[in-house]
Amino acid sequence: MFLTKEGLSGPLQLEAAASTEGESGEPEEPASSDPADHPTNLYRFPALYDALKTPSAQDVAVVRTLMHNALGAGPYSILDPAAGPGNWLRPFCDGSNQLVGNDYCEPMVRYVQATLGPCGCEARHGDMYDLRIEQTFDVVLEVSGVTSILPDVPSLTRILDHWADRLNPRGLLLLLVNLREEVPAVLPHTTWEQQGRPLPTGGTSGVRYELMEDRPEQGTQLIRRTVTTEGAPGFPSFLQETYALRVWTPQEVHQALAGSTHACLEAIAHPDDAEMQNPGWLGERYLVLRRK
Ligand SMILES: C[S@@+](CC[C@H](N)C(=O)[O-])C[C@H]1O[C@@H](n2cnc3c(N)ncnc32)[C@H](O)[C@@H]1O
Repeated sequence: MFLTKEGLSGPLQLEAAASTEGESGEPEEPASSDPADHPTNLYRFPALYDALKTPSAQDVAVVRTLMHNALGAGPYSILDPAAGPGNWLRPFCDGSNQLVGNDYCEPMVRYVQATLGPCGCEARHGDMYDLRIEQTFDVVLEVSGVTSILPDVPSLTRILDHWADRLNPRGLLLLLVNLREEVPAVLPHTTWEQQGRPLPTGGTSGVRYELMEDRPEQGTQLIRRTVTTEGAPGFPSFLQETYALRVWTPQEVHQALAGSTHACLEAIAHPDDAEMQNPGWLGERYLVLRRK
């Protein structure tokens, strides 16, 4: 089990890497899976997270193309090991695909059960490092960047192995990684922003991600996420979190792959264009992986 000390909200603080082992060498008490036990964070509001982070039709089309290129036409059995509100499973929840969304955050699991259960998606509460799922899948995907909460290369290898092990022999593992790229001269720099997103229960919401600080020696970048809502009862009007995100070098990813017994890299892909040849090892990229 590995969860940051900030629980589910903030991605890793490097020292958290040691949190798998307490001073006494005894495994530390795992962080609570209830965000209410952690500083207020976006994961406490699955519907708000969902409204802000639902992938665009173009984003989904790229992933569909990568699946089709690898597996041919569906239907597919698909697992998202850190599914959040199921925003990457919803586009496939058409009754033909068999879907499983796993997450450690209880409100997220309940939300997936309520919103995607009716279209056949199974919601599981569990640890992405220790998935208690016997079934193997055509596709295991985590394309929002959970690899950025992993502390180090051995943890990336562990996730590659554990998730590739959930693939059937012809299966596809699709992972988003954030790779180092040139840092803007002026910080803070807004890296992504969405405003005026309608909420299902009324009102609107917005989110802004800012790169605050680059920490190449730690392999991380300090990110500030600012969420606002208007006319949205039950949601915070202002929620700001600052956390460190892992940014990988190509060498570290190759190191992790070299240490993996179950996963092998078939290609990397650009999240905006599935057919782009040699998109280069910088920025956000999909690792297109198969089972060894
Ligand atoms: C950035 S969100 C991604 C959600 C979703 N995959 C998406 O595409 O937006 C990260 C998710 O990982 C979950 N998570 C973090 N650590 C986890 C763990 N050890 N096991 C399972 N889920 C975990 C969090 O609860 C959160 O829902």
